[in-house]
Amino acid sequence: MKKDQTKIGRNDPCPCGSGLKHKKCCMRKRNRLEPESMKQIYLKRYKIRLKEREDIAAIRKAGGLVMDTLDLVESSLKPGMTTEEINTLVHEYTLDHGAVPATLHYRGYPKSVCVSINEVICHGIPGDRVIEDGDIVNVDITSILDGYYADANKTFLVGAATPDAEKIIRVARESLKRGIEMVRPGNTVGDIGWAIQTYAEGEGCSVVREFVGHGVGFDFHEAPQIPHYGKPKQGVILAPGMVFTIEPMINLGNKELRILRDDWTAVTRDSSLSAQFEQTILVTESGHESLTPYDLD
Ligand code: MF3
Ligand code: CO
Ligand code: CO
Repeated sequence: MKKDQTKIGRNDPCPCGSGLKHKKCCMRKRNRLEPESMKQIYLKRYKIRLKEREDIAAIRKAGGLVMDTLDLVESSLKPGMTTEEINTLVHEYTLDHGAVPATLHYRGYPKSVCVSINEVICHGIPGDRVIEDGDIVNVDITSILDGYYADANKTFLVGAATPDAEKIIRVARESLKRGIEMVRPGNTVGDIGWAIQTYAEGEGCSVVREFVGHGVGFDFHEAPQIPHYGKPKQGVILAPGMVFTIEPMINLGNKELRILRDDWTAVTRDSSLSAQFEQTILVTESGHESLTPYDLD
């Protein structure tokens, strides 16, 4: 039985990325693009490696482990704990389940998880820092299982909430939700960024520019980049089989950052709170599926 053919509408943007309507472009050669030709077009034109059914199943499995690990961390988080203890939890749980922490030794990164507290935007290195009551703590986990990568993070509020902490977590979580809602074949990378930026800025917050979402699955960071800002209809057209993260970093103050002397830790210049949520998202024939699913309501 023939299956998995991708129907492109006459008036849809051509998947070859020409910017023309499909009927004015590749439709003249063939009306239905075989998955194989779609794969070749996306690889050649954008260096995007579309995933097949078996790849997707493997990334989903890695994603399940990432989510289990995040749940374990959440259930252990408490004031007085050091970020090193979180690293130990993640490292051991990952190895115990036959996987490898992707961040360990990645471009010289020394630990098995990123833990980013309060004004830290991302890439906080676990160490002696002690989690205090009222802190917001982002835990970002990427695991490699059977050679496949899945990447997700959440920001947790530890102990008593302040209005600022509650707000930045709410806005960052809703930003990811609105980004994911834009994911369907025919929409663009720019549509995702636009949905996030207009929402977050409308709430009086700002969007970090220096770090973006990314293709993931065969490798840690693949094409394309997924900025969390942008304009509708711009950028690569989403196609079934694309797998990428969306991971908006949202600041309570302004968007500028600086990198600490460890060459990793990114902090807000104005020391305002920053929060982030990340999932690994698959573009399906009809929309999207999270391969690291968790509730965003
Ligand atoms: N997990 C991060 C991301 O979402 C990347 C961390 S890279 C590290 O892309 F080296 F800082 F760990
Ligand atoms: Co991540
Ligand atoms: Co990521």
